[in-house]
Amino acid sequence: MLLLRRDPEAATSEVGVRAVGAFDLGRLSRLHKACFADGWSRSDLAHLLAMPGGFGLIARRQEPGFAGLDAIRGVGFALCRTTADECELLSLGVVPAQRRNGVARLLLEAAMQRCRNAGAKRMFLEVAIDNDKAKRLYEDRGFVVVGTRSNYYLRADGTRIHAHTMRLDLTCDMQRPAVAVEA
Ligand SMILES: CC(C)(COP(=O)(O)OP(=O)(O)OC[C@H]1O[C@@H](n2cnc3c(N)ncnc32)[C@H](O)[C@@H]1OP(=O)(O)O)[C@@H](O)C(=O)NCCC(=O)NCCS
Repeated sequence: MLLLRRDPEAATSEVGVRAVGAFDLGRLSRLHKACFADGWSRSDLAHLLAMPGGFGLIARRQEPGFAGLDAIRGVGFALCRTTADECELLSLGVVPAQRRNGVARLLLEAAMQRCRNAGAKRMFLEVAIDNDKAKRLYEDRGFVVVGTRSNYYLRADGTRIHAHTMRLDLTCDMQRPAVAVEA
């Protein structure tokens, strides 16, 4: 899938979404650590992906490499878990250099689609109350705040921050074009 990009240098590059496989844990951990101060380790991720209904998606950008060989670089990820007719977006991130190019929106759409295919009707997530960028992404997509969790996140400086719980009805807009996800 080709994306419209604000970064002229990246204008012709391509971002695709692929399901996380057993050999992706190191790459996924590096991506997670590039996005969060308390990034998750390989074993954290292995544990999460081994949970019933757990899955991950990686966004990869293809860019011209050395000697005419294309390089494929991981630029973002989404981690989810489905349980019966509900699902949870556990984590979502895009590496700083690739932000504001629509990658998170693409990952979110692909994650929603996969959860819907697994039978989920509602998606939930937690977001720090001061994470305005992420909240805007979720609100734009139709998520609404349904609750607040006090002192939910522990920050690297030892302080705690409340989180909003947000919910999206996955049955509402099933007519959107599908995002192609490689196996
Ligand atoms: C939040 C995050 C995932 C957004 O990734 P991204 O690829 O830059 O987002 P997109 O380009 O797909 O933007 C989609 C929408 O999100 C919102 N958004 C994203 N970045 C924004 C910013 N810097 N300022 C304002 N709104 C922003 C906008 O509504 C945007 O739509 P628009 O570009 O049409 O205005 C990314 O900033 C990130 O990884 N942050 C650190 C980790 C994190 O906070 N994850 C979410 C935890 S709940």
